Amino acid sequence: MIDGTGRNIDYIRISITDRCNLRCVYCMPETGVQMTSHKEILTFDEIIRLCGIFASLGIKKIKLTGGEPLCRIGVDDLVRDLKAVQGVEQVTLTTNAVELDEHLLPLYEAGLDAINISIDTADPALYKRLTRRDKFDEVMANIKMAAEFGKIPLKINCVPMTAEQKLYDVAEFARNYNIHVRFIEMMPIGFGKEFSFISRDAIIELLEERFGPLTAADVSLGNGPAEYYSIPGFKGKIGFISAVSHKFCQTCNRVRMTAEGYLKTCLQYDSGVNLKACLRAGGTDAELKELIANAINEKPLSHHFGDEGDGDSETKIMSQIGG
Ligand code: 5AD
Ligand code: SF4
Repeated sequence: MIDGTGRNIDYIRISITDRCNLRCVYCMPETGVQMTSHKEILTFDEIIRLCGIFASLGIKKIKLTGGEPLCRIGVDDLVRDLKAVQGVEQVTLTTNAVELDEHLLPLYEAGLDAINISIDTADPALYKRLTRRDKFDEVMANIKMAAEFGKIPLKINCVPMTAEQKLYDVAEFARNYNIHVRFIEMMPIGFGKEFSFISRDAIIELLEERFGPLTAADVSLGNGPAEYYSIPGFKGKIGFISAVSHKFCQTCNRVRMTAEGYLKTCLQYDSGVNLKACLRAGGTDAELKELIANAINEKPLSHHFGDEGDGDSETKIMSQIGG
């Protein structure tokens, strides 16, 4: 649907759990994470019902996120059921790939359209420090497995934060496989506020030193605001998602829903609507549809990350929002 400022909202990111098998330093604390109890999380039936209503409002693409979405039991069935919802054209998933081996085939059979894999470094010791877990070997093996499987399009997402990440080694994933590697600016949300971001220009310089000149590729791949570059001899492209330094709010096409059923219309603000409350109070489809339409209509114009005294009203951490 068209929001109050004329943007076409056709994409929703749905967090299906706030649990995760990693503890990335910029996303979750090492200990003392308050997990939402199971009864507070939307059931699959509730999610499927809401997606029918989203689709009736013109939302055609769904991305499942977390926490780590593969941590939720039955995720493969959810994908199948969402693919069957009338008006839903695409269901994709973002994952840290720790358990991807177990899910690859079931997800493919369920009709999953694409997978985004998050990995911030190709260095085993640093991976362990950044994720506070010892899962590097599994993750690398699973990425390779998914790439060789080849039947589900893959992208790699990497959040640059330190020179130690050896970003050129992460870019290597795009050399041998048709995988696009995207560098995503750290957003000042939750623990992300404690890290600085590395600019796109600095990353391009680093990659050019290693691989030779990058050329801007005039393509749009997937649903998002990434800008892509080609490297000679690479099968995949290198993308940049620069939400803070190159704000793309004017063309924002998305809303988000937390695992608890809060429809969030902007990453930065608390603005949105509690759909679970309406669902569980016996709300009708028509009532839910009106709540959703009103919330989207009032979607904020833009974020104010990086501004002095910004309207920093989001108090959730990223594992609760779903990135
Ligand atoms: N800024 C940018 N990306 C983030 N993610 C988690 N926290 C942040 C942040 N502060 C990313 C993860 C994953 C995706 C779901 O969200 O790296 O790729
Ligand atoms: Fe888990 Fe993703 Fe957060 Fe890392 S960034 S702790 S993988 S939810």
